[in-house]
Amino acid sequence: MTKGKVDALLGIVFGDEGKGKVVDYFTPRYDVVARFAGGPNAGHTIIFEGKKFVLRSIPSGIFDEGKINIIGNGCVIAPDLFMAEARELENAGYQLTERLHISRRAHLILPTHRVLDRAYEAAKGKNKVGTTGKGIGPTYSDKAARVGLRVGDIMENFEAKYQALKARHAQLLSDMGFEYDITEEEKLWLEGVDYMRKFHLTDTEIEINRYLAEGKSVLAEGAQGSLLDIDHGTYPFVSSSSTTSGGVCTGLGIAPNTIGRIFGIFKAYSTRVGSGPFPVELFDETGDTIRHIGNEYGAVTGRNRRCGWVDLVALKYAIMINGVTDLVMMKGDVLDGFSTIKVCTAYTKDGVTTTEMPYDTEGWEAVYEEIPGWNTPLTEMRTYDELPQAFKDYVAYLERELSTPISIVSVGPDRDATIIR
Ligand code: GDP
Ligand code: IMO
Ligand code: MG
Repeated sequence: MTKGKVDALLGIVFGDEGKGKVVDYFTPRYDVVARFAGGPNAGHTIIFEGKKFVLRSIPSGIFDEGKINIIGNGCVIAPDLFMAEARELENAGYQLTERLHISRRAHLILPTHRVLDRAYEAAKGKNKVGTTGKGIGPTYSDKAARVGLRVGDIMENFEAKYQALKARHAQLLSDMGFEYDITEEEKLWLEGVDYMRKFHLTDTEIEINRYLAEGKSVLAEGAQGSLLDIDHGTYPFVSSSSTTSGGVCTGLGIAPNTIGRIFGIFKAYSTRVGSGPFPVELFDETGDTIRHIGNEYGAVTGRNRRCGWVDLVALKYAIMINGVTDLVMMKGDVLDGFSTIKVCTAYTKDGVTTTEMPYDTEGWEAVYEEIPGWNTPLTEMRTYDELPQAFKDYVAYLERELSTPISIVSVGPDRDATIIR
């Protein structure tokens, strides 16, 4: 935590690295937690005291009653899903309305954005992105096309603005010959819009900068991962927002020189959900074992996550793009039973070998180095000293290769299974 600064916790691979767990764990050290990108395509799991929550739009700092949580201008928000998520927390006894502030500049996901998401995916056929179906791409497209609806629009003349954008979408869908019925969905969505009015819908960029001027500390919670970034990910198999450290500035309205530490979070192995190149993907029993032990099934969609070994080419690239100061390695415990572990050190294609992220990641194969596993259960361990030497050697190897310290390791899904070095 740095006073008067924004620290960021960013997924630096393909998402689902364990951001929710670590943000929740970090929250007591910060005054404010803020999401700066994405929307309900995210699924951030938090487990503590026998309870489990999966957050989509609400920041993972919400379980610490004293802290302000912000949904920043870089985010997109679906009122119906937001209402369901917020009510679940309210029913669990958490008071939100005073502590959860939403940017008026965040864009609204309409029911027809979700239909468009489905229609565009269907039109792409086998080249589909494998989106979460939450309307993310169409909403950010409308933002860039300067026709989107923002949270601030809820306050004035909303019905007319809504009908105008809905009609635009209806025309697009009719041109595509795509049939749909949003009658029920729309009712809930409009109820969600009403529900949102009870929250602080504010200029969160001004609020955050005021907090920083007062010496308060802010934790920016990433969504998705660097390789799903609209600019730096494996385009076109990406999400539609800026998920990297640059996105923290634009997605919250803070200046680059207010950024403090940048935590880059990754797993002791790799996963990807949805389509797109994934050179380390394992199609064998090892991949199935990692999926099974790591419980690698989508928190939002329930889809199988594709699994593979850790990828140094991808990690180096993401560390460079983000300016990562500290690494956080999750799910070491999932590899407990392996006598050897592989690490991808380069990619190769047509006789060419590279350690730099290629422009077109399609068709590259991973080159591996094999290192000893630890063959010891880690989940009950709570201090770095207790961890087996082979695990420490794995950490030291990655640190050396990545020229970045691994400051935190996680050995289980529970909040407590976190070790700071
Ligand atoms: P996020 O999207 O980055 O917040 O990550 P997800 O919640 O989608 O996926 C991470 C999954 O791994 C969740 O099911 C977590 O409960 C779980 N998890 C987090 N850290 C650990 C860990 O160190 N070990 C194990 N076994 N599971 C973990
Ligand atoms: P968290 O925050 C993993 C993937 C989708 C798809 C691509 C585009 O939980 O880490 P979208 O619906 O955003 O247009 O889908 O991005 N994707 C994620 N994968 N974790 C996520 O979020 C993701 N959000 C989007 O599977 O391949
Ligand atoms: Mg997730």
